[in-house]
Amino acid sequence: MRTQVAIIGGGPSGLLLSQLLHVRGIDSVVLERKTRDYVLSRIRAGVMERGLYELMKEAGCGARMEREGMPHDGTLLSYGDEMFRVNFKDLTGHPVMVYGQTEVTRDLYDAREAADGKVEFNAEDVEICDADTDSPYVTYRVGSESRRIDCDFIAGCDGFHGVSRKTIPADVLKEYERVYPFGWLGVLSETPPVNHELIYANSPRGFALCSMRNANLSRYYIQCPTTDKVENWSDEDFWAELKRRIPADQAENLVTGPSIEKSIAPLRSYVAEPMRWGRLFLCGDAAHIVPPTGAKGLNTAASDVHYLYNGLRQFYEEGDAEGIDRYSERALSRVWKVERFSWWFSGLMHRYPDQTDFDLKMQIAELEFLRSNTDAQRAMATNYVGLPY
Ligand code: APR
Ligand code: PHB
Repeated sequence: MRTQVAIIGGGPSGLLLSQLLHVRGIDSVVLERKTRDYVLSRIRAGVMERGLYELMKEAGCGARMEREGMPHDGTLLSYGDEMFRVNFKDLTGHPVMVYGQTEVTRDLYDAREAADGKVEFNAEDVEICDADTDSPYVTYRVGSESRRIDCDFIAGCDGFHGVSRKTIPADVLKEYERVYPFGWLGVLSETPPVNHELIYANSPRGFALCSMRNANLSRYYIQCPTTDKVENWSDEDFWAELKRRIPADQAENLVTGPSIEKSIAPLRSYVAEPMRWGRLFLCGDAAHIVPPTGAKGLNTAASDVHYLYNGLRQFYEEGDAEGIDRYSERALSRVWKVERFSWWFSGLMHRYPDQTDFDLKMQIAELEFLRSNTDAQRAMATNYVGLPY
């Protein structure tokens, strides 16, 4: 088989890139190790920046998002029983859109299917070959059949555990990492959200987040030790602990119900540089991870896709390699700013095992400063709604 762009990974990065290229008449093949149902069963964050929202529209996938997504003009931050609001709309002119990553991925799969796009599921043993030459190719296996795709470029959209990043020689790749000493226990429940906006809660018992997917589907998280096991957290224990971490008036309004999903995720900051090696380009989780505080994972994957898509477009439409040559530099410049924001917001809201009384005072002082100072709020809001591409 021959294509212009071979895309490894059928998560949101790979699908969005493939669909955007298709709109411009550029051919691609997506290789996904799992099945569509498996990919769609993963529960991920649900806050979209304007950049991703615009890209979905450009990809011709915006209709359901515009119908069902919920624009949020601000968010709530609490510490103990104190709570204040940061008004994104007033401070930056932009809201964010609450729409689940699962729905984004579903819309992209539907669009790929409608366009007869090539997505190979159950693609095993993917190997990237000759990426440092002008004729790269990819080999893989479906069942007992071995296959090969020759291409112009390879997009490594295969997430943190994929093969793409590992293909880049160790003496070329530099990794930066911070692992946090806690995780997030998340629960999805068919209950109305406790508040019409998200609540990020700093409490003496640890961080909590009240989020949502729609008017009758709530997503809640609490900070927990990384050693905790999901089976040891009953629904009852989860709700009781969540209530202790959010302001009392909110806890009183909290409607609880059976969980329909419950999982623990570790928190990590990670960046791999460069994001390009020859004709291989890394996109999304394949190149970087942020802790989920601030919901930047999917949004940062989208900004990578934006730079790569425009670089490829420039190459095919204008014969100009400037965009692909500067892809890594442009993507990383934004990635590091988002890493900083996610790290800062995580540090502001969580309890750390080695935190001193002084450190706790610093957190509260920073929250009170944020509460009282519109310049500080604007800095937070500017990052939250999404830095420009
Ligand atoms: N071969 C083929 N496909 C692979 C391989 C491989 N060797 N390894 C992984 N994959 C697939 C995974 O099964 C997954 O569907 O690549 C896809 C990567 O998807 P994600 O992990 O979702 O990464 P990405 O598309 O970059 O999405 C960005 O934003 O909110 C964050 O982490 C969250 O998934 C999210 C991410
Ligand atoms: C979510 O809805 O899952 C979510 C929202 C905001 C975050 C993280 C996760 O910062």
